[in-house]
Amino acid sequence: MTLSQMSSALLLLLGGMASAQKETDIVVRDKTVVQRCALAGASSRMVAVGVPGGFNYAFDGQRCAPVEAWFGGFLDFNGETNGRGGNGCKPLGARRSLGIDTVPFRLRDPDALPNSVRFHGYRRNAQTGEPTFLFEVDGLQVEQQVRSSGPDCVTMELVFPGSEPIEKFYRINPSEHVLVELGEGIRWSGPGILQIAGSVQKAQVKVQLKAGNKAFVREVVEFSGAELYRNFCSACHSADGTKLIGPTFKGLWGREEAVTRNGKPESLTVDDAYVRQSILEPQAAIVQGYEQVPMASFSGVLTKDQVERLMAYLKGLE
Ligand code: HEC
Repeated sequence: MTLSQMSSALLLLLGGMASAQKETDIVVRDKTVVQRCALAGASSRMVAVGVPGGFNYAFDGQRCAPVEAWFGGFLDFNGETNGRGGNGCKPLGARRSLGIDTVPFRLRDPDALPNSVRFHGYRRNAQTGEPTFLFEVDGLQVEQQVRSSGPDCVTMELVFPGSEPIEKFYRINPSEHVLVELGEGIRWSGPGILQIAGSVQKAQVKVQLKAGNKAFVREVVEFSGAELYRNFCSACHSADGTKLIGPTFKGLWGREEAVTRNGKPESLTVDDAYVRQSILEPQAAIVQGYEQVPMASFSGVLTKDQVERLMAYLKGLE
């Protein structure tokens, strides 16, 4: 093979690898690429990040949060560079929401928007190019990194350098995710509200994104029944008999339960059908004495398989 034959073979190979690549595409090679731009269809200017290996995300400086991710190519910059404006740059992959609709970060009160949110930009790792986003919420310094830990899996890490122990909250819409896995010191304090204990210096939340586009459907990580219980139910249901916001799961099956169904008192024996309905339509029958905090439905949050796996685990709790 001559040199020119070799290089055209190489070109062919490269061409085949990135078949739809255009001159205006920004290609990610061995280092993370960071690009400020207006993303097509998004309201504010974003910092778009392309990580080698096909994981990309956009960090919104206004909300001080990562808001969407896509897997595949990074960006087509055509809309941004042609001077006509308005189009913005186009992510080259199936865009997925990260479930963050407002300023997600809250101090002390999960329902009160912070008085001030200041975006301070980012610093980059000299070797990998990976950015760490820096912002300030009501005077509290926060650093955030975003990584992908597998297909459709995104890990968000919040670090509070030298902060006093203050309770913090993070609002994230769980209906955008197949699964949310919480690091140490974080728990659900209500539907869509994560509570971060004051002592936590580094908070980790891992989300498994819903597959929005068939072309990008990838294998879903299998979580055990115990993991599902820990992540989704343990904030309100104990496994050891302790009374929390909801009834304990200890000895659930076969228990005689007094519930209110359609406004009428009813007594029943807990079985598979009742537990399944309690997970998917919790308002159908309310356990008497637990009317204070309503349980949110897990329909559309957990898959059918996950519900069955979770139930098998709960059944084994003695
Ligand atoms: C935000 C708190 C909260 C979370 C999280 C929660 N629940 Fe509940 N759950 C409740 C409350 C309160 C009740 C009692 C009122 C009612 O029946 O709706 C309840 C009732 C139940 C019951 C009926 C229990 C009985 O003794 O009859 C089951 C079963 C149940 N939940 C399953 C689950 C499962 C499984 C999960 C996790 C996937 C979960 N819940 C997550 C608050 C919660």
